[in-house]
Amino acid sequence: MKVLVTGGCGYIGSHTVVDLLNEGYEVVIVDNLVNSKKEVIDYIKKITNKEVTFYEYDLCDKKKLESIFEKEKIDSVIHFAGLKAVGESVEKPLEYYENNLISTLNLLDCMQKYSVYKIVFSSSATVYGNPKSLPIYENFPLSTTNPYGSTKLMIEMILKDLYKSDSRFDITILRYFNPIGAHKSGLLGEDPNGIPNNLMPYIVRVATHKLPVLNIFGDDYKTVDGTGVRDYIHVCDLSYGHVLSLKNKKTGLKIYNLGTGKGTSVLELVSMFEKVNGVEINKQIVGRREGDIDACYAANDLAKEELGFEPKYTLEDMCRDSYQFVIKSKE
Ligand code: NAD
Ligand code: WQD
Repeated sequence: MKVLVTGGCGYIGSHTVVDLLNEGYEVVIVDNLVNSKKEVIDYIKKITNKEVTFYEYDLCDKKKLESIFEKEKIDSVIHFAGLKAVGESVEKPLEYYENNLISTLNLLDCMQKYSVYKIVFSSSATVYGNPKSLPIYENFPLSTTNPYGSTKLMIEMILKDLYKSDSRFDITILRYFNPIGAHKSGLLGEDPNGIPNNLMPYIVRVATHKLPVLNIFGDDYKTVDGTGVRDYIHVCDLSYGHVLSLKNKKTGLKIYNLGTGKGTSVLELVSMFEKVNGVEINKQIVGRREGDIDACYAANDLAKEELGFEPKYTLEDMCRDSYQFVIKSKE
């Protein structure tokens, strides 16, 4: 079985490629490295002791993308490639719509042309907007508050329409909650360029004295301690969800939440990070960040039942591995 992994050099994609290789799949990666580094390919080989084929192409370049389908005999696709920074998407909406939508349309068109029908797509809990209640089930109403989220929702709609028109497609939409953590080798993880937008990379920067203080966005939310609650999931649990999706016996169009089902507040996460890593995080409460919601965590019953998805990493593991990745990558 040969799997084309778009965005396979990125944070979640690289961990998934490791799992796929370990499970005996052949892997072809296409990534334009807009948010990742070529060294990731060497790290993947080092961790797995297996070969992987890499094309440094932009999915928006349809000719080049098609040449991969022409050359390789692809059986299925996992589609991670996309731009993902919420704030940036508000500033540069056209860039986000162009990159995320054109790349996906090109990919789906090539798939249909070359009779490749199985695809797993990276969606996000952001498509639930501000949920009416918790936990969040897959059948909750969908809405978005920023261009990034809109690209995810639009792609979900495109996939649904495609399936309606051609039932040979076998489509899995995975709605991720908040992935953190890193591979235990210390070789793969998340270390964004510039000032991080997401909480865990920011905590790590403060822990390593690259940033002076963590700004906690609001302590007046309706949550256990007033700070925002999210469903943090170890990236290795999340990546394995993709292997399970490829192995899923159920065909057609399926949608699964991938989260642990547990909510953790900002202060709880910071305090766990401090305890596990024996460091102190300099922090201050500031005003709310625009667009943030009180709380968000998954009902993961469907993924458990149909995929056999069973997250095994704890919050301690997530905090330790996120920190170790940055410590080890400096050695
Ligand atoms: P990432 O930025 O680390 O990985 C995405 C990869 O896609 C990068 O390596 C980038 O270079 C590549 N890419 C982007 N546009 C491309 C294009 N046009 N052609 C070829 N390659 C391109 O992001 P990630 O955190 O690994 O996320 C993977 C997917 O999961 C994304 O679609 C993201 O929107 C989605 N997602 C991420 C999160 C999260 O918190 N990390 C949560 C929900 C959903
Ligand atoms: C988590 C909590 C913040 C930074 C985003 C995207 C979502 C998905 C995952 C892709 C919130 C608080 C954060 C900081 C803070 N990505 N916070 N100080 O907002 O749940 O989700 O990433 O699909 O689409 O919106 O994640 O890590 O940014 O924030 O206090 O410096 O941490 O207010 O409560 P979020 P996050």
